[in-house]
Amino acid sequence: MAIQDKAYIDGRWVAGNLGCFDVDDPASGDIVARVANVDLDQVEAAIDAASNAFEPWRLQPAQARCDRLMAWQLLLLAQQSRLAELITLESGKPMSESLAEVVYGASYLKWFAEQGVRAYGHTLPALPGGRRPMTIKQPVGVVAIITPWNFPLAMIARKVAPALAAGCCVVIKPAAETPLTALALVALAEQAGFPAGCINVVPGIDAAAIGQRLCASPRIRKLSFTGSTAVGRILMAQSAAHIQKVSLELGGNAPFIVFDDADLDLAVDGLLAAKFRNSGQTCVAANRILVQQGVYQAFVSKLREKVLALKVGPGAIDGNNIGPLISQVAHRRVSRLVEQALSAGATCSAVGTDLPGRFYPPTLLESIRPSNPIWQQEIFGPVLAVTGFDTEEEAVRLANSTEAGLASYLYSDNVRRVMRVAESLQFGMVGVNEGIISTAVAPFGGIKSSGLGREGGQEGLDDYLETKYLCFGS
Ligand code: SIN
Repeated sequence: MAIQDKAYIDGRWVAGNLGCFDVDDPASGDIVARVANVDLDQVEAAIDAASNAFEPWRLQPAQARCDRLMAWQLLLLAQQSRLAELITLESGKPMSESLAEVVYGASYLKWFAEQGVRAYGHTLPALPGGRRPMTIKQPVGVVAIITPWNFPLAMIARKVAPALAAGCCVVIKPAAETPLTALALVALAEQAGFPAGCINVVPGIDAAAIGQRLCASPRIRKLSFTGSTAVGRILMAQSAAHIQKVSLELGGNAPFIVFDDADLDLAVDGLLAAKFRNSGQTCVAANRILVQQGVYQAFVSKLREKVLALKVGPGAIDGNNIGPLISQVAHRRVSRLVEQALSAGATCSAVGTDLPGRFYPPTLLESIRPSNPIWQQEIFGPVLAVTGFDTEEEAVRLANSTEAGLASYLYSDNVRRVMRVAESLQFGMVGVNEGIISTAVAPFGGIKSSGLGREGGQEGLDDYLETKYLCFGS
Protein backbone atom coordinates (compact mmCIF):
# COMPACT_ATOMS: atom_id res chain seq x y z
CA MET A 1 0.00 0.00 0.00
CA ALA A 2 1.71 3.21 -1.18
CA ILE A 3 1.46 6.30 1.06
CA GLN A 4 -1.45 8.41 -0.18
CA ASP A 5 -0.76 12.15 0.18
CA LYS A 6 -3.48 13.78 -1.95
CA ALA A 7 -6.92 15.06 -1.02
CA TYR A 8 -9.89 12.92 -2.10
CA ILE A 9 -12.74 14.89 -3.63
CA ASP A 10 -15.57 13.50 -5.76
CA GLY A 11 -13.79 10.20 -6.28
CA ARG A 12 -10.52 11.80 -7.45
CA TRP A 13 -7.14 12.18 -5.75
CA VAL A 14 -6.16 15.83 -6.11
CA ALA A 15 -3.23 18.06 -5.15
CA GLY A 16 -3.87 20.83 -2.61
CA ASN A 17 -4.48 24.30 -4.06
CA LEU A 18 -2.35 25.65 -1.20
CA GLY A 19 0.51 23.23 -1.85
CA CYS A 20 1.51 20.76 0.86
CA PHE A 21 2.08 20.57 4.58
CA ASP A 22 4.58 18.41 6.45
CA VAL A 23 3.72 15.37 8.51
CA ASP A 24 6.35 14.19 10.97
CA ASP A 25 7.18 11.13 13.02
CA PRO A 26 6.77 12.16 16.68
CA ALA A 27 9.44 9.65 17.75
CA SER A 28 12.22 11.20 15.66
CA GLY A 29 10.82 14.53 14.49
CA ASP A 30 11.68 13.51 10.89
CA ILE A 31 9.36 14.63 8.10
CA VAL A 32 7.73 11.49 6.71
CA ALA A 33 5.34 12.94 4.12
CA ARG A 34 4.11 16.13 2.49
CA VAL A 35 0.33 16.14 2.23
CA ALA A 36 -2.09 18.16 0.08
CA ASN A 37 -3.13 21.39 1.76
CA VAL A 38 -6.63 22.22 0.47
CA ASP A 39 -8.06 25.71 0.09
CA LEU A 40 -11.64 26.73 0.78
CA ASP A 41 -12.67 26.27 -2.88
CA GLN A 42 -11.68 22.63 -2.50
CA VAL A 43 -13.69 22.35 0.70
CA GLU A 44 -16.64 23.75 -1.25
CA ALA A 45 -15.99 21.25 -4.06
CA ALA A 46 -16.07 18.43 -1.50
CA ILE A 47 -19.41 19.72 -0.15
CA ASP A 48 -20.72 19.87 -3.76
CA ALA A 49 -19.59 16.30 -4.38
CA ALA A 50 -21.16 14.99 -1.17
CA SER A 51 -24.40 16.89 -1.89
CA ASN A 52 -24.63 15.44 -5.40
CA ALA A 53 -23.87 11.92 -4.19
CA PHE A 54 -26.38 12.11 -1.33
CA GLU A 55 -29.66 11.47 -3.17
CA PRO A 56 -28.55 8.34 -5.08
CA TRP A 57 -26.74 7.02 -1.99
CA ARG A 58 -29.69 7.43 0.35
CA LEU A 59 -31.98 5.78 -2.22
CA GLN A 60 -29.83 2.64 -2.38
CA PRO A 61 -31.29 -0.27 -0.43
CA ALA A 62 -29.90 -0.30 3.10
CA GLN A 63 -28.42 -3.73 2.44
CA ALA A 64 -26.40 -2.40 -0.53
CA ARG A 65 -24.91 0.37 1.63
CA CYS A 66 -24.12 -2.11 4.36
CA ASP A 67 -22.47 -4.52 1.89
CA ARG A 68 -20.02 -1.73 0.99
CA LEU A 69 -19.19 -1.20 4.67
CA MET A 70 -18.63 -4.94 5.14
CA ALA A 71 -16.30 -5.01 2.12
CA TRP A 72 -14.43 -2.00 3.54
CA GLN A 73 -13.90 -3.62 6.94
CA LEU A 74 -12.54 -6.77 5.33
CA LEU A 75 -10.03 -4.67 3.38
CA LEU A 76 -9.01 -2.93 6.61
CA LEU A 77 -8.37 -6.21 8.35
CA ALA A 78 -6.44 -7.53 5.36
CA GLN A 79 -4.22 -4.42 5.53
CA GLN A 80 -3.99 -4.37 9.33
CA SER A 81 -0.18 -4.36 9.58
CA ARG A 82 0.31 -1.69 6.94
CA LEU A 83 -2.33 0.57 8.47
CA ALA A 84 -0.86 0.03 11.93
CA GLU A 85 2.59 1.03 10.65
CA LEU A 86 1.12 4.28 9.32
CA ILE A 87 -0.65 4.97 12.63
CA THR A 88 2.58 4.46 14.55
CA LEU A 89 4.56 6.48 12.03
CA GLU A 90 2.45 9.61 12.32
CA SER A 91 0.99 9.36 15.84
CA GLY A 92 3.88 7.68 17.66
CA LYS A 93 1.80 5.07 19.51
CA PRO A 94 3.24 1.58 20.11
CA MET A 95 2.63 -0.91 17.28
CA SER A 96 0.60 -3.21 19.55
CA GLU A 97 -1.82 -0.31 20.15
CA SER A 98 -1.89 0.61 16.47
CA LEU A 99 -2.77 -2.96 15.51
CA ALA A 100 -5.51 -2.89 18.14
CA GLU A 101 -6.76 0.42 16.75
CA VAL A 102 -7.21 -1.07 13.27
CA VAL A 103 -9.29 -3.91 14.71
CA TYR A 104 -11.21 -1.41 16.87
CA GLY A 105 -11.88 0.81 13.83
CA ALA A 106 -12.92 -2.15 11.69
CA SER A 107 -15.37 -3.21 14.41
CA TYR A 108 -17.28 0.08 13.90
CA LEU A 109 -17.57 -0.59 10.17
CA LYS A 110 -18.95 -4.06 10.86
CA TRP A 111 -21.23 -2.97 13.69
CA PHE A 112 -22.85 -0.20 11.67
CA ALA A 113 -23.06 -2.38 8.54
CA GLU A 114 -25.16 -4.69 10.68
CA GLN A 115 -27.16 -1.89 12.36
CA GLY A 116 -27.85 0.05 9.16
CA VAL A 117 -30.34 -2.55 7.93
CA ARG A 118 -32.24 -2.14 11.20
CA ALA A 119 -33.04 1.57 10.97
CA TYR A 120 -36.66 0.87 11.82
CA GLY A 121 -39.50 3.33 12.20
CA HIS A 122 -42.75 2.48 13.98
CA THR A 123 -46.36 2.00 13.12
CA LEU A 124 -48.46 3.52 15.88
CA PRO A 125 -51.98 2.62 17.04
CA ALA A 126 -54.77 4.23 15.02
CA LEU A 127 -55.99 7.67 16.10
CA PRO A 128 -59.63 8.76 16.54
CA GLY A 129 -61.32 9.01 13.14
CA GLY A 130 -59.23 6.16 11.76
CA ARG A 131 -56.09 8.17 11.08
CA ARG A 132 -52.95 6.01 11.02
CA PRO A 133 -49.66 7.48 12.30
CA MET A 134 -46.27 6.00 11.50
CA THR A 135 -42.62 7.06 11.69
CA ILE A 136 -39.80 6.47 9.24
CA LYS A 137 -36.05 7.02 9.69
CA GLN A 138 -34.19 9.08 7.12
CA PRO A 139 -30.55 10.15 6.82
CA VAL A 140 -29.80 13.67 8.09
CA GLY A 141 -27.94 14.64 4.87
CA VAL A 142 -24.35 15.62 4.23
CA VAL A 143 -22.16 15.33 7.33
CA ALA A 144 -18.93 17.17 8.16
CA ILE A 145 -16.56 15.02 10.19
CA ILE A 146 -13.62 16.58 12.04
CA THR A 147 -11.31 14.12 13.74
CA PRO A 148 -8.33 14.19 16.14
CA TRP A 149 -4.82 12.75 15.92
CA ASN A 150 -4.96 10.41 18.93
CA PHE A 151 -6.96 7.68 17.13
CA PRO A 152 -6.40 8.60 13.48
CA LEU A 153 -8.30 5.59 12.17
CA ALA A 154 -10.87 4.62 14.79
CA MET A 155 -12.30 8.11 15.30
CA ILE A 156 -13.01 8.38 11.57
CA ALA A 157 -14.47 4.87 11.39
CA ARG A 158 -16.89 5.43 14.23
CA LYS A 159 -18.34 8.55 12.63
CA VAL A 160 -18.20 7.63 8.94
CA ALA A 161 -19.65 4.11 9.37
CA PRO A 162 -22.96 5.16 10.95
CA ALA A 163 -23.21 8.13 8.58
CA LEU A 164 -22.84 5.95 5.47
CA ALA A 165 -25.01 3.16 6.87
CA ALA A 166 -27.77 5.70 7.53
CA GLY A 167 -27.52 7.00 3.94
CA CYS A 168 -25.52 10.18 4.58
CA CYS A 169 -22.47 11.32 2.56
CA VAL A 170 -19.43 12.81 4.30
CA VAL A 171 -16.68 15.39 4.11
CA ILE A 172 -13.83 14.43 6.44
CA LYS A 173 -11.26 16.87 7.81
CA PRO A 174 -8.58 14.72 9.46
CA ALA A 175 -6.13 16.15 12.00
CA ALA A 176 -3.14 17.80 10.30
CA GLU A 177 -0.80 15.68 12.46
CA THR A 178 -2.23 12.37 11.16
CA PRO A 179 -3.72 12.67 7.66
CA LEU A 180 -1.89 9.63 6.21
CA THR A 181 -4.01 7.07 8.04
CA ALA A 182 -7.20 8.89 7.01
CA LEU A 183 -6.14 8.90 3.37
CA ALA A 184 -5.10 5.23 3.47
CA LEU A 185 -8.44 4.36 5.05
CA VAL A 186 -10.33 6.17 2.33
CA ALA A 187 -8.19 4.59 -0.41
CA LEU A 188 -9.54 1.27 0.91
CA ALA A 189 -13.09 2.67 0.81
CA GLU A 190 -12.52 3.47 -2.86
CA GLN A 191 -11.45 -0.14 -3.41
CA ALA A 192 -14.56 -1.31 -1.55
CA GLY A 193 -16.64 0.41 -4.23
CA PHE A 194 -18.23 3.44 -2.54
CA PRO A 195 -19.57 5.75 -5.28
CA ALA A 196 -17.69 8.98 -6.06
CA GLY A 197 -18.66 11.83 -3.75
CA CYS A 198 -19.95 9.63 -0.92
CA ILE A 199 -16.71 10.04 1.03
CA ASN A 200 -14.46 13.09 0.63
CA VAL A 201 -11.30 13.97 2.55
CA VAL A 202 -9.96 17.52 2.82
CA PRO A 203 -6.60 17.57 4.60
CA GLY A 204 -5.36 21.02 5.53
CA ILE A 205 -3.25 22.92 7.97
CA ASP A 206 -5.81 25.68 8.64
CA ALA A 207 -8.30 23.68 10.69
CA ALA A 208 -10.10 26.79 11.93
CA ALA A 209 -10.85 28.09 8.42
CA ILE A 210 -11.92 24.66 7.14
CA GLY A 211 -14.13 24.08 10.19
CA GLN A 212 -15.72 27.49 9.76
CA ARG A 213 -16.44 26.86 6.08
CA LEU A 214 -18.03 23.50 6.85
CA CYS A 215 -20.23 25.08 9.52
CA ALA A 216 -21.12 27.99 7.25
CA SER A 217 -22.57 25.75 4.56
CA PRO A 218 -26.35 25.27 4.66
CA ARG A 219 -25.77 22.01 2.75
CA ILE A 220 -23.95 20.46 5.70
CA ARG A 221 -26.74 19.13 7.91
CA LYS A 222 -24.65 17.67 10.67
CA LEU A 223 -21.26 18.19 12.22
CA SER A 224 -19.50 15.45 14.14
CA PHE A 225 -16.36 16.51 15.98
CA THR A 226 -13.95 14.83 18.37
CA GLY A 227 -11.39 17.08 20.03
CA SER A 228 -10.97 19.70 22.70
CA THR A 229 -13.83 21.33 24.56
CA ALA A 230 -12.51 24.77 23.53
CA VAL A 231 -12.74 23.96 19.81
CA GLY A 232 -16.05 22.12 20.30
CA ARG A 233 -17.56 25.31 21.75
CA ILE A 234 -16.46 27.34 18.72
CA LEU A 235 -17.82 24.79 16.24
CA MET A 236 -21.10 24.51 18.12
CA ALA A 237 -21.53 28.28 18.03
CA GLN A 238 -20.71 28.35 14.30
CA SER A 239 -23.10 25.52 13.51
CA ALA A 240 -25.93 27.56 15.05
CA ALA A 241 -26.07 29.63 11.85
CA HIS A 242 -27.90 26.86 9.95
CA ILE A 243 -29.04 24.87 13.01
CA GLN A 244 -26.85 21.95 12.02
CA LYS A 245 -27.14 18.89 14.19
CA VAL A 246 -23.99 18.42 16.26
CA SER A 247 -22.25 15.47 17.86
CA LEU A 248 -19.37 16.55 20.05
CA GLU A 249 -16.97 14.18 21.76
CA LEU A 250 -14.88 16.55 23.85
CA GLY A 251 -12.39 16.53 26.68
CA GLY A 252 -12.69 14.45 29.83
CA ASN A 253 -11.28 14.54 33.34
CA ALA A 254 -11.93 10.98 34.40
CA PRO A 255 -11.94 10.01 38.08
CA PHE A 256 -10.61 6.54 38.90
CA ILE A 257 -11.88 5.51 42.33
CA VAL A 258 -10.43 2.58 44.26
CA PHE A 259 -12.39 1.56 47.37
CA ASP A 260 -11.06 -0.38 50.36
CA ASP A 261 -13.02 -3.45 49.21
CA ALA A 262 -11.51 -3.51 45.69
CA ASP A 263 -9.31 -6.22 44.20
CA LEU A 264 -6.09 -4.18 44.22
CA ASP A 265 -4.22 -6.11 41.54
CA LEU A 266 -7.18 -5.78 39.19
CA ALA A 267 -7.41 -2.08 40.01
CA VAL A 268 -3.70 -1.47 39.35
CA ASP A 269 -3.91 -3.25 35.99
CA GLY A 270 -7.11 -1.40 35.10
CA LEU A 271 -5.46 1.90 35.96
CA LEU A 272 -2.41 1.19 33.84
CA ALA A 273 -4.68 0.41 30.89
CA ALA A 274 -6.93 3.43 31.46
CA LYS A 275 -4.02 5.81 32.00
CA PHE A 276 -1.17 4.78 29.72
CA ARG A 277 -2.99 3.84 26.50
CA ASN A 278 -1.49 6.11 23.83
CA SER A 279 0.85 7.60 26.47
CA GLY A 280 -2.12 9.07 28.30
CA GLN A 281 -3.39 10.88 25.21
CA THR A 282 -7.01 9.71 25.26
CA CYS A 283 -10.16 11.56 26.29
CA VAL A 284 -11.11 8.64 28.53
CA ALA A 285 -7.72 8.48 30.30
CA ALA A 286 -7.88 8.17 34.09
CA ASN A 287 -6.99 11.71 35.18
CA ARG A 288 -7.76 11.90 38.91
CA ILE A 289 -6.92 8.81 40.93
CA LEU A 290 -8.84 8.55 44.22
CA VAL A 291 -7.77 5.78 46.60
CA GLN A 292 -9.47 5.02 49.92
CA GLN A 293 -7.15 5.44 52.91
CA GLY A 294 -7.37 1.80 54.09
CA VAL A 295 -5.66 0.52 50.91
CA TYR A 296 -3.78 3.66 49.90
CA GLN A 297 -0.24 2.54 50.77
CA ALA A 298 -0.67 -0.98 49.41
CA PHE A 299 -2.20 0.29 46.16
CA VAL A 300 0.41 2.97 45.54
CA SER A 301 3.33 0.63 46.20
CA LYS A 302 1.98 -1.91 43.65
CA LEU A 303 1.37 0.93 41.22
CA ARG A 304 4.85 2.41 41.64
CA GLU A 305 6.46 -0.91 40.79
CA LYS A 306 4.45 -1.26 37.57
CA VAL A 307 4.99 2.35 36.51
CA LEU A 308 8.76 1.93 36.81
CA ALA A 309 8.58 -1.22 34.66
CA LEU A 310 6.96 0.58 31.70
CA LYS A 311 9.20 0.70 28.64
CA VAL A 312 9.54 4.10 27.02
CA GLY A 313 10.71 4.43 23.41
CA PRO A 314 9.69 4.59 19.74
CA GLY A 315 6.39 2.87 19.09
CA ALA A 316 7.87 1.01 16.12
CA ILE A 317 10.24 -0.92 18.42
CA ASP A 318 8.69 -4.09 19.76
CA GLY A 319 8.03 -4.16 23.49
CA ASN A 320 7.82 -0.40 24.11
CA ASN A 321 4.68 0.60 26.02
CA ILE A 322 5.05 4.39 26.10
CA GLY A 323 5.64 6.27 22.85
CA PRO A 324 6.32 9.98 22.38
CA LEU A 325 3.76 12.72 22.84
CA ILE A 326 2.34 14.03 19.59
CA SER A 327 4.30 17.32 19.51
CA GLN A 328 6.79 19.54 21.32
CA VAL A 329 3.87 21.76 22.27
CA ALA A 330 2.16 18.80 23.96
CA HIS A 331 5.40 17.96 25.75
CA ARG A 332 5.80 21.51 27.04
CA ARG A 333 2.19 21.53 28.21
CA VAL A 334 2.56 18.32 30.24
CA SER A 335 5.92 19.45 31.66
CA ARG A 336 4.37 22.74 32.78
CA LEU A 337 1.40 21.00 34.36
CA VAL A 338 3.73 18.74 36.37
CA GLU A 339 5.87 21.70 37.48
CA GLN A 340 2.73 23.58 38.57
CA ALA A 341 1.47 20.46 40.40
CA LEU A 342 4.76 20.18 42.32
CA SER A 343 4.75 23.86 43.25
CA ALA A 344 1.15 23.45 44.44
CA GLY A 345 2.27 20.80 46.96
CA ALA A 346 2.24 17.50 45.04
CA THR A 347 5.01 14.99 45.68
CA CYS A 348 6.64 12.86 43.01
CA SER A 349 7.06 9.23 43.99
CA ALA A 350 8.15 7.63 40.71
CA VAL A 351 9.57 8.76 37.38
CA GLY A 352 10.23 6.28 34.57
CA THR A 353 12.80 6.47 31.79
CA ASP A 354 13.30 10.02 30.55
CA LEU A 355 14.31 10.13 26.87
CA PRO A 356 15.01 13.26 24.82
CA GLY A 357 12.61 14.67 22.22
CA ARG A 358 8.88 14.31 22.68
CA PHE A 359 9.05 11.38 25.12
CA TYR A 360 7.63 12.13 28.55
CA PRO A 361 8.52 9.73 31.38
CA PRO A 362 5.70 7.87 33.15
CA THR A 363 5.32 9.85 36.37
CA LEU A 364 3.51 9.20 39.64
CA LEU A 365 2.41 12.24 41.63
CA GLU A 366 0.78 12.09 45.07
CA SER A 367 -0.73 14.46 47.66
CA ILE A 368 -2.81 16.22 45.02
CA ARG A 369 -5.25 18.76 46.41
CA PRO A 370 -8.49 19.47 44.47
CA SER A 371 -7.24 23.02 43.83
CA ASN A 372 -4.11 21.71 42.08
CA PRO A 373 -4.18 22.62 38.34
CA ILE A 374 -3.36 19.03 37.42
CA TRP A 375 -6.59 17.94 39.10
CA GLN A 376 -8.65 20.41 37.13
CA GLN A 377 -7.26 19.88 33.63
CA GLU A 378 -7.06 16.98 31.26
CA ILE A 379 -3.40 15.90 31.53
CA PHE A 380 -3.12 14.17 28.13
CA GLY A 381 0.22 12.63 29.06
CA PRO A 382 1.60 9.65 31.04
CA VAL A 383 1.24 11.26 34.45
CA LEU A 384 -0.71 9.77 37.36
CA ALA A 385 -2.17 12.21 39.90
CA VAL A 386 -3.19 10.32 43.05
CA THR A 387 -4.90 11.37 46.25
CA GLY A 388 -6.51 9.62 49.21
CA PHE A 389 -10.09 9.84 50.52
CA ASP A 390 -11.96 8.60 53.60
CA THR A 391 -15.62 8.05 52.75
CA GLU A 392 -17.75 7.06 49.76
CA GLU A 393 -19.54 10.42 49.90
CA GLU A 394 -16.22 12.26 49.75
CA ALA A 395 -15.10 10.17 46.75
CA VAL A 396 -18.30 10.89 44.83
CA ARG A 397 -18.16 14.60 45.66
CA LEU A 398 -14.54 14.88 44.55
CA ALA A 399 -15.19 12.83 41.40
CA ASN A 400 -18.14 15.00 40.36
CA SER A 401 -16.42 18.32 41.06
CA THR A 402 -15.53 18.95 37.42
CA GLU A 403 -17.23 20.45 34.38
CA ALA A 404 -16.20 17.38 32.38
CA GLY A 405 -18.44 14.31 32.25
CA LEU A 406 -17.02 11.73 29.85
CA ALA A 407 -15.57 8.56 31.43
CA SER A 408 -15.24 7.49 35.06
CA TYR A 409 -14.00 4.32 36.73
CA LEU A 410 -14.66 2.66 40.06
CA TYR A 411 -13.22 -0.43 41.69
CA SER A 412 -15.10 -2.23 44.46
CA ASP A 413 -16.29 -5.77 45.14
CA ASN A 414 -19.38 -4.55 47.00
CA VAL A 415 -22.28 -4.75 44.55
CA ARG A 416 -24.50 -2.34 46.49
CA ARG A 417 -21.75 0.25 46.62
CA VAL A 418 -21.05 -0.26 42.92
CA MET A 419 -24.67 0.49 41.99
CA ARG A 420 -24.90 3.49 44.36
CA VAL A 421 -21.69 5.07 43.14
CA ALA A 422 -22.22 4.26 39.43
CA GLU A 423 -25.63 5.96 39.60
CA SER A 424 -24.20 9.00 41.42
CA LEU A 425 -21.29 9.64 39.07
CA GLN A 426 -22.08 12.51 36.69
CA PHE A 427 -20.40 10.98 33.65
CA GLY A 428 -21.62 9.46 30.38
CA MET A 429 -19.67 6.24 30.97
CA VAL A 430 -18.66 4.27 34.06
CA GLY A 431 -16.09 1.48 34.03
CA VAL A 432 -16.86 -0.87 36.92
CA ASN A 433 -13.80 -2.95 37.78
CA GLU A 434 -12.70 -2.31 34.18
CA GLY A 435 -10.21 0.14 32.70
CA ILE A 436 -10.97 -0.31 28.97
CA ILE A 437 -14.58 0.54 28.25
CA SER A 438 -14.58 1.48 24.55
CA THR A 439 -16.40 -0.84 22.16
CA ALA A 440 -18.46 -0.47 18.98
CA VAL A 441 -21.51 -2.08 20.59
CA ALA A 442 -21.97 0.48 23.39
CA PRO A 443 -22.82 4.20 23.33
CA PHE A 444 -19.61 6.22 23.84
CA GLY A 445 -20.08 9.84 24.87
CA GLY A 446 -20.20 12.42 27.59
CA ILE A 447 -22.41 14.82 29.49
CA LYS A 448 -21.81 18.38 30.75
CA SER A 449 -18.90 20.01 28.91
CA SER A 450 -17.69 16.66 27.53
CA GLY A 451 -20.16 16.87 24.69
CA LEU A 452 -23.34 15.81 23.01
CA GLY A 453 -24.44 12.65 21.26
CA ARG A 454 -23.23 9.07 21.35
CA GLU A 455 -20.96 7.02 19.10
CA GLY A 456 -21.36 3.25 18.85
CA GLY A 457 -24.34 1.15 19.89
CA GLN A 458 -27.81 1.75 18.44
CA GLU A 459 -27.50 5.37 19.61
CA GLY A 460 -24.55 5.89 17.28
CA LEU A 461 -26.76 5.23 14.24
CA ASP A 462 -29.67 7.29 15.58
CA ASP A 463 -27.40 10.35 15.66
CA TYR A 464 -27.29 10.27 11.82
CA LEU A 465 -31.03 9.72 11.34
CA GLU A 466 -34.04 12.00 11.44
CA THR A 467 -37.38 10.62 12.57
CA LYS A 468 -40.17 11.62 10.20
CA TYR A 469 -43.80 11.27 11.29
CA LEU A 470 -46.40 10.39 8.64
CA CYS A 471 -50.12 10.70 9.30
CA PHE A 472 -52.42 8.69 6.99
CA GLY A 473 -56.04 9.84 6.79
CA SER A 474 -58.72 7.22 7.22
C1 SIN B 1 -10.74 9.35 22.55
O1 SIN B 1 -9.76 9.47 23.25
O2 SIN B 1 -11.30 10.34 22.05
C2 SIN B 1 -11.38 8.01 22.23
C3 SIN B 1 -10.89 6.92 23.04
C4 SIN B 1 -11.60 5.62 22.75
O3 SIN B 1 -12.33 5.46 21.77
O4 SIN B 1 -11.40 4.71 23.53
